[in-house]
Amino acid sequence: MNVLVTAGPTREALDPVRFISNRSSGKMGYALAAAAHGAGHRVRLISGPVALPPPEGVNVIPVVSADDMLTAVEKNLAWCDLLIMAAAVVDWRPRKPARHKWKKSQGPPVIEWEPTPDILSAIAPRKTPRQVFCGFAAETRALAREAKRKLREKNLDAIAANDVSRADRGFDAARNELAVFFADGAARHIPLASKAVCARRLLAWLENLVEKKVKNNSKNS
Ligand code: CTP
Repeated sequence: MNVLVTAGPTREALDPVRFISNRSSGKMGYALAAAAHGAGHRVRLISGPVALPPPEGVNVIPVVSADDMLTAVEKNLAWCDLLIMAAAVVDWRPRKPARHKWKKSQGPPVIEWEPTPDILSAIAPRKTPRQVFCGFAAETRALAREAKRKLREKNLDAIAANDVSRADRGFDAARNELAVFFADGAARHIPLASKAVCARRLLAWLENLVEKKVKNNSKNS
């Protein structure tokens, strides 16, 4: 199957030398891309700026901002059977990034913010009945409630929620613990494990969802 993965943070420029971003290392998304390649799938990985080597056999598409990532996802959307949005997309950007370096003598900048595009919400209307979309939820509290809200609002088939408030898992850590919620109401848990192990387990469930959709679609056509 064709698997499209997004990974890492995005960045939004504040001025020519500064940006806003987040603590995502890209490890979870890269582990998912590697797991999908290992399982024999064709993989494209849309990656924000990270310090990781490209996974073997995976076509990496580098991006920087939320707009770049949206464009890259849109270009590759029709190609994929499974989309896994593991990227931590920055939600706001300055309405007008400064054209020149903001000088210390100017004092602390007052920035007017605007939202970046929500990629999953933007592409939801283009999802075909055969495609499976899985999101990630980065939470510091009310993990299950927030993850289920995102699952519904972004029209996803599954969402993997991780607690990003703890140093030993989630953002920038080597390991993760995932609570996975499915559109049919099912919930599953992946206990604390390396991101490679989490990736293989999550991928196996997502492969099943794709197979089910393919079967249902062939019955109905
Ligand atoms: N996401 C996206 N576009 C954005 C922000 C997030 O497509 N601009 C995707 C992420 O890749 C992830 C899912 O939406 O798969 C949830 O991201 P998360 O950062 O947890 O949630 P937000 O939508 O930003 O919501 P909130 O700020 O309420 O946590």
